[in-house]
Amino acid sequence: MNVRRPRGTNDILPGASEHWQFVEQKIRDICHNFGYQEIRTPIFEHTELFERGIGETTDIVEKEMYTFQDRGDRSITLRPEGTAPVVRAFLENKLYAQPLPAKLYYFGPMFRYEKPQAGRYRQFYQFGVEAIGSADPALDVEMIVLPIEFYKSCGLSGFQVHINSIGCPTCRPTYRDTLRKMFSEKLDQFCSNCQGRIERNPLRVLDCKSPKCQELIDDIPLVLDSLCPECSEHFAQVRQYLDLLEIDYIINPKLVRGFDYYTRTVFEITVASLGAQNAIGGGGRYDGLVEECGGNPAPAVGFAVGLDRLMLALENQESQIFTPRKPDGFVAHFGGVTKPVAIKVVNDLRKQGLWVEMDYLDRSLKAQMKSANRFNCNWVLIIGEDELADNKVKLRWLASGEEEEVELDNIQVRLLNEREGQ
Ligand code: HAM
Repeated sequence: MNVRRPRGTNDILPGASEHWQFVEQKIRDICHNFGYQEIRTPIFEHTELFERGIGETTDIVEKEMYTFQDRGDRSITLRPEGTAPVVRAFLENKLYAQPLPAKLYYFGPMFRYEKPQAGRYRQFYQFGVEAIGSADPALDVEMIVLPIEFYKSCGLSGFQVHINSIGCPTCRPTYRDTLRKMFSEKLDQFCSNCQGRIERNPLRVLDCKSPKCQELIDDIPLVLDSLCPECSEHFAQVRQYLDLLEIDYIINPKLVRGFDYYTRTVFEITVASLGAQNAIGGGGRYDGLVEECGGNPAPAVGFAVGLDRLMLALENQESQIFTPRKPDGFVAHFGGVTKPVAIKVVNDLRKQGLWVEMDYLDRSLKAQMKSANRFNCNWVLIIGEDELADNKVKLRWLASGEEEEVELDNIQVRLLNEREGQ
């Protein structure tokens, strides 16, 4: 049997997994500073949640969901994103009864049946943040500042923030009708994907990557010019607060994003070095989603960062994102009576919080010393039969080559003192 991992998935191997742990720690630190608490929702949900939440005419719902009937004949979907599940959990667990806005973050795998390529996977990891229960533009800005601070704390540089406002149910329909009318006149010139989109959701055409479609939409009226006074004022305040905080951003009037739940502010953060899949995060306001999911109206805003792409961007920048940990020491033995002593010493030291390695292959002392050097340990304890007869062991410091004899009972005190002195 030669089973390989499914297309579009990755194994995170030792070494790389330490990078992920580093980034996960940064997530927790930054969310703590901004006052967000972790929420963990299931990896699968009822399909209806995503159909209604994300929108039936979006690419995700139309062709990218991992949907199956479970043994109870329910339609289940592996979550393609975290916002709809968080809103569901907010309502189901009555988090609205607690002080608002609810400030929540999550981290975990998401699943989309996309065509895999560098930076685009079928199982990928997101860190996301949602603030539910306030329409304050200060929160839109917080959602842009938080990922920026997060990227910086991971050592990433050279990213760009793109923002736009796509209006609300009051002003967007007029804009949508204008686009539909304009696009319909040259319908057959658009790619087949867009031809389907024009009737159902013409704003999605703005997202098309085809150069021909981009050319066709070159001179369309801009959504920013069709905002109602309230949306216009909201966007002006967002920009004002971004300026106040000296955040660099680009207004990109063609940024629409691939979910139907967005209202007003949308944004995306990109890194040029990533090529085609250059968005390392994105988000926006979704003031209608809570009501769409069956709750009382509650404005909300959030974002998600793609962690796989962040890792790629950090690799491209040859970022030294963490100092590799190394074992404190190595306990060498010669088999026979020395082995149980070594096992006991190793266990006692580990209980004291030291990282201690030993030999599991009954190798010679020379080979064991080679391992200790490869691990770059500080010290090696050599448990020899002769010394053991006097209740002693040999302690060798690898950097200096110095050796000393230590009483068996004093090993812990000796090594712990040494570590504290470092
Ligand atoms: P999204 O833009 O679909 O937004 O995903 C956020 C980020 O996840 C993207 O910028 C990208 O870095 C990463 N990502 C998306 N798809 C893939 C993939 N197939 N492979 C690797 N990385 C990927 C959302 O998911 C919204 N829920 C964000 C949000 C939260 N809006 C409001 N609250």
